[in-house]
Amino acid sequence: MNIIEDLKAYNTVINGELDSLLSGKDDDLNLIADSMRYSVQNGGKRIRPYLVLKFSELGGLDSFNKGALAFACALEMIHTYSLIHDDLPCMDNDDLRRGKPTNHKVFGEATATLAGDALLTLAFEVVSAAETTDKAKIKAVNALSELAGWKGMVGGQIMDLEGEKRKLTDREFTKMNALKTGALLRCTARLGLAAAVCDDEQTCKDADEYCACIGRAFQIRDDILDVTANQAELGKPVGSDAKNGKTTVLSYMSLDKAQALAAELTEKAAAAIEKYGKTGKELSEFAVFLLNRRK
Ligand code: IPE
Ligand code: IPE
Ligand code: MG
Ligand code: MG
Ligand code: MG
Repeated sequence: MNIIEDLKAYNTVINGELDSLLSGKDDDLNLIADSMRYSVQNGGKRIRPYLVLKFSELGGLDSFNKGALAFACALEMIHTYSLIHDDLPCMDNDDLRRGKPTNHKVFGEATATLAGDALLTLAFEVVSAAETTDKAKIKAVNALSELAGWKGMVGGQIMDLEGEKRKLTDREFTKMNALKTGALLRCTARLGLAAAVCDDEQTCKDADEYCACIGRAFQIRDDILDVTANQAELGKPVGSDAKNGKTTVLSYMSLDKAQALAAELTEKAAAAIEKYGKTGKELSEFAVFLLNRRK
C-alpha cells in the first residue's frame, strides 16, 4: 500500500471517530455544535492524527488502539481550533479554509471564537475519558497543554503577528515556525508514544527529532504554497502572507532555496526514524509526501 492510500485508510477511521465525538445533541446548543462540526468535518488532511496513530504503533500498540485514537482526535480538535482563530479578522483575516468559507464568515466572529474555545476544551475532555491507562492520559494532557500553549503553538502565533510589523531575525523566524507549526507536530509523537506508554529514551528522542524536522519543513512548504499553489486545490487563499506582510521563509530566500531547505530537513527527519522497522519506513515516506504536497 502506498502512503497516500495508507493516509486515506487511516482517515476513514479518524473521521468516523471525530464524527462520533462531535455527535452530542442539545437543542439549545445547536449553533455552537454546528460551528464546531463545520470546521472539524470534511476537508482536513488529518496529518496530525495519522502521525499520532503511527507513533502509537512505533511504540508497540496495534493499529487503531482506542486510547491512541482518542488522543489523535483530541489533537485534531486543537489543530482545528488553531485554524479557526488563525483565520479571524484580528489574525490572518482569511475567507477560505479547507475548501469552504471560514468559520467566522458563516457563523460570525463571536461564534467562531467560541467554537475554537470549545474545541480546545473538548480535546481535554476526550483525553481524560479515553480508554487507556491514567499514566497515558496524564502524559497526553501534559504534552497537549505544553505544546499547544504559550510556549508552543500560541507562542508561535504571537511571534507570527510580530512578524507582520517587522522582519524577524533568523533566530526568531526559526523559533516562530518551531512553535506555531512544529509544536503540534511534535505533539504527535508525544501523544502516540504516551498511548503506548513508551518511555524508551532513544525512541522518544528520535521521534522528537523527526517531528521537529518535518514541522520546520511543513511550514516552509506551506509558505511556498501560499505563493505557488492553485487556490481551488489548496482550499485556502493564495497570497494571504503577502496581503498581511508576513515574515515567511521567502523573506529570506528564493522559492528554490526554500524547497531545498525543506528537502534537507526531510532527509534529516527520515534519517532519525527509518531504523524503526516498518513504521519507521512509513514515517520516512510520509515526510517525503509532505515535502511534495500540493495542498
Ligand atoms: C495548516 O495545517 C496550518 C499550518 C500549520 C501550516 P494543515 O496544512 O495540516 O491543514 P489541514 O488540517 O490539512 O486543513
Ligand atoms: C498557521 O500558519 C499556524 C497555526 C498555528 C494555525 P499559517 O497562518 O501560515 O497557516 P495557514 O496558511 O493559514 O493554514
Ligand atoms: Mg497564521
Ligand atoms: Mg493563516
Ligand atoms: Mg500559511
